[in-house]
Amino acid sequence: MLRSHTCGELRAEHVGEEVTLVGWIDTIRDHGGLRFIDLRDRYGRTQVTLSPETVDGSELTSLRSEQVLQVTGRIQARPDGMKNPRLLTGEIEVIATVSTLVGDCPALPFDFAGGDLVNDELRFQYRFLDMRRPEVQRRFQLRSDLQHQLRNHLHEKGFIDLETPMLTKSTPEGARDFLVPSRLNPGELYALPQSPQIFKQLFMVAGFDRYMQIVRCFRDEDLRADRQPEFTQLDLEMACVEEDDVIEVLEGLMAHVVKALTGREVETPFRRISYDEALLKYSSDAPDLRSDLEIFELSDLAADLGFKVFSGAVEAGGAVRGVRVPGAGEWSRKQIESLEAIVKNQGAGGLAWMKRTEDGLAGPVARFCDGDAGTQLVERSGLQVGDLCYFVADRSKRVVINSLSFLRKELAQKLGHIQPDALEFCWVTEFPLFDEDETSGSPVPCHHPFTAPHPDDLDQLESSPLNVRARAYDLVLNGFEVGGGSIRIHQRDLQERVFEAIGLSPEEARSKFSFLLEALKYGAPPHGGIALGIDRLVMILAGDDSIREVIAFPKTQRGTCQLTGAPTHVSDQQLEEVGLRVADPAKPVTSQLSGDEAGEPTQQ
Ligand code: AMO
Ligand code: AMP
Repeated sequence: MLRSHTCGELRAEHVGEEVTLVGWIDTIRDHGGLRFIDLRDRYGRTQVTLSPETVDGSELTSLRSEQVLQVTGRIQARPDGMKNPRLLTGEIEVIATVSTLVGDCPALPFDFAGGDLVNDELRFQYRFLDMRRPEVQRRFQLRSDLQHQLRNHLHEKGFIDLETPMLTKSTPEGARDFLVPSRLNPGELYALPQSPQIFKQLFMVAGFDRYMQIVRCFRDEDLRADRQPEFTQLDLEMACVEEDDVIEVLEGLMAHVVKALTGREVETPFRRISYDEALLKYSSDAPDLRSDLEIFELSDLAADLGFKVFSGAVEAGGAVRGVRVPGAGEWSRKQIESLEAIVKNQGAGGLAWMKRTEDGLAGPVARFCDGDAGTQLVERSGLQVGDLCYFVADRSKRVVINSLSFLRKELAQKLGHIQPDALEFCWVTEFPLFDEDETSGSPVPCHHPFTAPHPDDLDQLESSPLNVRARAYDLVLNGFEVGGGSIRIHQRDLQERVFEAIGLSPEEARSKFSFLLEALKYGAPPHGGIALGIDRLVMILAGDDSIREVIAFPKTQRGTCQLTGAPTHVSDQQLEEVGLRVADPAKPVTSQLSGDEAGEPTQQ
């Protein structure tokens, strides 16, 4: 070994021993020829003292941050007053006798110590440097620990870890597929899996009644802070189960990993909220329960209030909803109205409000509250002296929901409800089986087409598909959907009815999913499962606000990799081999990168 210890290991009990350390130079302090270096590695930092009198080494003068240094020396207790209680190795120092520069480093491309402050582009281009920083290393340790705990816990519960193919056929989860051409079958393409959904169902038919896998999934969709084109799921499936069984396993799993990683207790069972209730009360299908702000419906009172903005919206088929903000009656008019921009951004015409003071109601909506409807409004809102109420009306219910969703988030922040280390789990249940496609108006699966319809709604599958509830559930943490699952269809005829409801002809259904339909014929047990978004879970546990921070080599918003430059053009020869031609001849086809070039970070 080139080292005898790591940089985080040495303590007072090692005093007198000779050791060899290898690490990056973190800081250098010069005291007239005597140099104090903090040597850093994944495990910590150790102070090394280099004195021209004791060191046998030629590079003493040219030392720079981030060079890799190997030092041999004797451990000495630091003099009193020089001890650093904040450092695990703070009681000792290494008095170097040999120092060798084993890895040189030029001036850094960005301010390493202030890493979070530099622009992301540079940080991800030089991710190998960015990841040296202790706070970044902590995230990846957390990620590794999380995966370890998830796997261990499930193994203890009898789950078997099975792999599924990456080169496969379309596995629909509502996104576009990434396609891979096949050299041996020119003109034919594989799809990368959006999830292992169908394969895990086949495992149930095969008798592996408790399956799990930590697996990469690929989805070609528009990217956001909590979405990447490739991401990692903890995928699981269980046979002979109903919703409560899957939910119970997941609650046990979450309680276990949170305890193992943070030492904290998570209270189970988690709250369950129906999809309709979530959209009404929290204006979101992934409610952030760190805040108790609740939205209420006012559409039924709109006609009697006599406020045109409200009644007009409801008459046009829309809605009016409000939210009470405790204590905000003290805000100035300017402060109150400053939030209007948030709802206008979502397409709302404005943000109405009313407050209750010792003298009664005040604000633009107050004058409509004299009658019975007004009394009911005040009662429903729970408006107390000192409180404020906001209202949004629109002819589109979607606009009302989106506006109040953003408003609620902002209010929760402003009121200090969002405690950074709080963990508020809940289940959202009773999703609709289908959404209405915005352009065609036809039903599209809300989750995926293998989700079982609610048995009470089966008779509406053909007549009013949009009213059918699904046996689906989402796991939500702090306002993020961290998991989604369902009880599946295990009868072939019902699966065929659902395919038909989403507009697949029997021939299309067979050509796309014959292997599933076949399997359902051969003794398929009832089954269900869920998949957790590991990146999102780590992001929340690490207190980050983007999953890019917890993915080693993430993609940009445009789906590119800043480090490797992918995606890139490939050579004509490669295209020819797989039987592809690039449609846009205006784009130059560059030759393949050589090994060396491919390793260089690309300039953006
Ligand atoms: P679903 O599509 O809900 O379900 O995905 C499960 C979880 O994966 C995470 N996730 C993502 N994370 C990062 N980037 C993305 N682009 C992305 N897309 C999804 C979310 C989500 O809750 N086969 C089903 C599971 C099942 O039914 O068992 C599925 O994939 O946290
Ligand atoms: P008025 O003085 O009658 O124009 O009332 C305007 C009040 O209603 C202002 O507070 C506006 O911000 C608010 N307002 C306008 N359009 C809407 C809307 N669609 N939803 C809620 N409030 C609105």
